[in-house]
Amino acid sequence: MIRPVVRIGPKEVHLSDPENKEIIYSMSSRYAKSPVFYNALYVPHSTFGTPSNEVHKHKRAMLNPFFSRRMVLELEGVVQHKAAKIVDLMSSAIAADRPVDLHHAFRALSVDVISDYAFNKSYDLLDSPDLGAHFFAMARGVGPAMYVFQQFPSLQRLAMKIPPWLAPMLSRPLGYVVGMQMEGVKQIEDVRTRMESGKLGTARPTIFSELLDPEKQDGWPMPSTMELKDDVYSLLVAAADTTGNAMTRAAFHVINDQQAYSKLRSELLAAFPDPRAKQDFVTLERLPYLTAVIKEALRLSLGVIGRLPRVVPEGSAKFNGYFVPAGTIVGMSSWLMHLNSDVFPNPTKFNPERWLDPVEL
Ligand code: HEM
Repeated sequence: MIRPVVRIGPKEVHLSDPENKEIIYSMSSRYAKSPVFYNALYVPHSTFGTPSNEVHKHKRAMLNPFFSRRMVLELEGVVQHKAAKIVDLMSSAIAADRPVDLHHAFRALSVDVISDYAFNKSYDLLDSPDLGAHFFAMARGVGPAMYVFQQFPSLQRLAMKIPPWLAPMLSRPLGYVVGMQMEGVKQIEDVRTRMESGKLGTARPTIFSELLDPEKQDGWPMPSTMELKDDVYSLLVAAADTTGNAMTRAAFHVINDQQAYSKLRSELLAAFPDPRAKQDFVTLERLPYLTAVIKEALRLSLGVIGRLPRVVPEGSAKFNGYFVPAGTIVGMSSWLMHLNSDVFPNPTKFNPERWLDPVEL
């Protein structure tokens, strides 16, 4: 039996009941991100890593327009172009009877799209023979450094003063952390230079040209390169595994489940009788079975699997009858929520149908 409230440390509580999710994670929640956890990720100036609710609100307001439906539609050409590359990659591999590492390919697709959107310069990992293996080793390799930094914050401050050339010699994860930081600085400087020389294309919006625009700061001080590099780092890492894992899950299950494969194929053929025709987003988003497959793949790929810690605000809180004082860290994990058998019967089964005819709980 899963207990809904478990004290996992002197000042930390793990929650599992779905009702508590809205309380601690909703957009209007006063629960701030826990600095103990988020500071260890070493992206203090990013939207993602900002513990203060007030500063977070400003940063998030700057980013929000880039993730609106309207902007996503404007970006469709970029996504279609990269998706066509994956189709070519698979067609030529099938013709040559050799395997394709779809997990790498899907993550590369996601990073290629977001780097294009962010800097107007795609990383084009899909064009490299190893599909960007080095980038993914770097993005994933930062993990072990974070665990140490969480326990020993002063070690982190010291580590960040180490010259970039020395860091990988001392520790591989530290080398990856510094590598990602340098990558962020390089990209911001590059966007800034192209903006100043008028060489940055303006046909469609670019995340960092907007963040670097003095007129868009809404009364807040202009962020420096060293501050903005944190958003580069967190956007690239956010884009890589989450989206890539979900697409890999979807592909794996659809290929291995004859019934799901036939249903999806029939739905797509009915919507696009000519398989070579452009499969546009507005038509795709209206297909019920495809939407259910995507939701089920998102559920089983788990997104960010660990607890996402928040701080109980002034006034304390009560969870499932337990009093929890202000300042306590509370968190939930997607693993427990997505695999909750009360909400998703037979939770480990890939079953898109559960989204087509949901039962009100
Ligand atoms: C399947 C795809 C994705 C999943 C499951 C996912 C999941 C999440 C989760 C769980 C968080 C909250 C993290 C926390 O509170 O610590 C988050 C935050 C965030 N994600 Fe994603 N993400 C996905 C794709 C993306 C993509 C493609 C981008 C953009 C490049 C992105 C950008 C962000 C940003 C900027 C934040 C911080 C938001 C904030 O602090 O208000 N994510 N994501």
